[in-house]
Amino acid sequence: MINIKLGKLAMAVGAMCLSTAAFAQTSAVYTIDPTQLKATVQPTMYGVFFEDINMGADGGLYAELVKNRSFEFDRNLMGWTIKGDSSAVKVIDRKTERPDNPHYIKVAASTQGIMLVNEGFRGMGIRKGEAYNFSVIARQPAGGNVTLQLQLLDESGKVIGTASVQPKSAEWRKFKVSIPASAQAAKGSLAVVVQGKGTIDLDMISLFPQRTWKNRENGLRADLVQMLADMKPGFIRFPGGCIVEGRYLVNRYQWKKTVGDVDKRETIINRWNTEFKHRSTPDYFQSFGLGFMEYFMLAEDIGAEPLPILNCGMACQFNSGELVPVDQIDPYVQDALDLIEFANGDASTKWGKLRISLGHPAKFNLKMLGVGNENWGPNYVERWTLFRDAIKKKYPQVKIVTSTGTDPDGARFDTLNTAFRKLNADILDEHYYRPPQWFRDNAKRYDSYDRNGPKIFAGEYAAHVPGVDDALKKNNLEAALAEAAFMTGLERNADVVNMASYAPLFAHVDAWQWAPDLIWFDNLKHYGTPNYYVQKLYSLNKGTNVVPMLLNGQPIAGQAGIYANATVNNKSGELLIKLVNVSGNSQNADLNIKDLNKYQKTAWVTTLKNAKPNAVNSLAEPQLVSPVDSQVSITGDKLAIAAEPYSFKVIKLKLK
Ligand code: AHR
Repeated sequence: MINIKLGKLAMAVGAMCLSTAAFAQTSAVYTIDPTQLKATVQPTMYGVFFEDINMGADGGLYAELVKNRSFEFDRNLMGWTIKGDSSAVKVIDRKTERPDNPHYIKVAASTQGIMLVNEGFRGMGIRKGEAYNFSVIARQPAGGNVTLQLQLLDESGKVIGTASVQPKSAEWRKFKVSIPASAQAAKGSLAVVVQGKGTIDLDMISLFPQRTWKNRENGLRADLVQMLADMKPGFIRFPGGCIVEGRYLVNRYQWKKTVGDVDKRETIINRWNTEFKHRSTPDYFQSFGLGFMEYFMLAEDIGAEPLPILNCGMACQFNSGELVPVDQIDPYVQDALDLIEFANGDASTKWGKLRISLGHPAKFNLKMLGVGNENWGPNYVERWTLFRDAIKKKYPQVKIVTSTGTDPDGARFDTLNTAFRKLNADILDEHYYRPPQWFRDNAKRYDSYDRNGPKIFAGEYAAHVPGVDDALKKNNLEAALAEAAFMTGLERNADVVNMASYAPLFAHVDAWQWAPDLIWFDNLKHYGTPNYYVQKLYSLNKGTNVVPMLLNGQPIAGQAGIYANATVNNKSGELLIKLVNVSGNSQNADLNIKDLNKYQKTAWVTTLKNAKPNAVNSLAEPQLVSPVDSQVSITGDKLAIAAEPYSFKVIKLKLK
């Protein structure tokens, strides 16, 4: 029962106008019954969506500092400046011999040296006291005497690290040397001075921080992976997103071209290079240094189930919409079957053997994969059916994630939703990029979904606050709270909703195309948005079972601006309550918890709040809106919580 201290009139006024001060003293009684275990919350419930957008991979998570290391960008020397006689550097085309890596450079050395400077991805982040691993694939004719003098430069061009390497080999060979950095640079660069007598051929000029995630070669940025690991995500969806589809089929994502030797992974243009005119990024290409093996290992490292999404024989329908005729779809379907074998096969299988040869004897235990990203229409259903039949025949236990199109409603959605329910799809992938109001209004979206139909994957979502400049939609607290409010509904319906992920995940502050995004970074630093903290708090406190939390016998989904849900963790004996106040008023919540006396007399409360709903985090103020822990003593027969304006709380009680 609701307990309105100001009486019915105040409730009516407050309900009509959330921001009126009249509602400020409202206190409501929410009943929670932790003894009634309802839906099971899947371990996969909260995960992450990764796509190479906003320089999320090249220039971001992938720790390579050299841009255009193999001279494969449309302009072969993009990212490189030649100091000295520029005619000394020639780009050589060897397309026929090496279609996977068709270019390298031939440099005529000189006594004073030809200097090649790589600008990195909007500069290179260099840390004082750390070492940087330089490598190059090179050859020089026998008898040549060319040395590479290497310099780390800060933003003013001052040398902050040196090393040299003499690549003496008439055949292509990899040479490596480590360069210690004596100072920090946020926008540093790498100079390669080609000195001596003769010519030298250079390819795959690379520089990595020695300190990558788990100190792996060809590794990932440790600070960014840590942000993901801290979320303990239930799954990682990769590699996208629209990048799966490609503008044209020729630049769709092809996983087989992303495993094995890095220099054999064909670089292609990133579709986000040209997607948005107002955010054109001409230097955005995909090196695939972060490829499928790295994705699987990342998933394993952070304890997340891998969820690859594959092209279904259709290029992006917002772009070319190219279609693979159904009688030519076999290679696409085969890619899916081979991927499962790559992840789960043993040494007797072709693709399992490849995984093992890449240093990973253990299986990745792939349980699900997506067929198509945001595809729609009858062509999609037709192609999906062919994939489904082949995958289920060979791997009946593998669940297929299926697109419901670009939007959570409308004709595309309705048609696919009906078709795939008839086809008994395993998991439907719903996407919603909508204003905060949509999220607040849709907290009950899944209350009425068919309990016996396909499971739901809220595969891409984010509340988009209209900005002054529409492209610069902010990751502000209002958006984060709208998502938190909506997520009470995802969690309450955990019997139907098995997975959810915010999108996109990463954005470089100087090179983004799409905003908002969960985590922002520059070359040295990063910060989590308020939205990140919402995702993290849900993920760390998901519990194992939903338990009833009601107001007047109803789910709490916006009454007086409050959204709430409760779960228990039946392993740890914790009761976990999420309480979101999207209103500008302080609200008193009396939590009437069954068997309260079985719990310890302290509640652990984590609060994300700010007096201003438009508050944002930034590189300068990364923690402005971030969770704060507190404790509340339980004195009477209820737990009294004050939900501050614009706040999200996770309240944890522990069994005695
Ligand atoms: O997350 C950004 C994009 O939004 C994804 O690539 C696509 O699937 C969706 O349209």
